[in-house]
Amino acid sequence: MAQVGIFIGTVYGNALLVAEEAETILHQQGHEVKLFEEGTLEDWQYYRQHYALVITSTTGQGDLPDTIAPLFDAIRDQVGYQPELHYGLIALGDSSYDNFCGGGHKFDALLQEQGATRVGDLLEIDAMEQPEPEVVSRPWVTQWGTLLK
Ligand SMILES: Cc1cc2nc3c(=O)[nH]c(=O)nc-3n(C[C@H](O)[C@H](O)[C@H](O)COP(=O)(O)O)c2cc1C
Repeated sequence: MAQVGIFIGTVYGNALLVAEEAETILHQQGHEVKLFEEGTLEDWQYYRQHYALVITSTTGQGDLPDTIAPLFDAIRDQVGYQPELHYGLIALGDSSYDNFCGGGHKFDALLQEQGATRVGDLLEIDAMEQPEPEVVSRPWVTQWGTLLK
């Protein structure tokens, strides 16, 4: 059983829906899960020893939503290096925009730069292709949960 903090970036609630379903799936697998709709650096620091699952959409022109942008800035400016961190990343976007899933990729690039280890592949969910994001995230989360120690 692992402890997982889910950090959510959303404007219209799609990423929150994905996160709530991920919480249910991971909980059923025996993991201990907490959702952070506006996670702080203090929340994040705890999960550096456990697992962080970032689930974020993209807004503006490849930007992170306001619910998670302050956390991104704090991690970038105050953490620096976190090689002990294991994380997963689900990026929601729409391929009709430039910078498809840009917010999620930006977060992933930061964590890679800081030496963290991504568990599983980054999942992109395209609103153009799939109006119900949980259909794409459900099998991914089920598999991801089996990779946690
Ligand atoms: C104003 C606006 C800007 C957007 N910009 C992007 C973008 O740059 N890249 C992208 O992949 N998707 C973009 N999207 C699509 C959203 O990321 C996508 O619809 C996502 O499912 C929304 O999830 P949310 O409800 O959790 O915010 C944009 C959507 C809106 C309304």
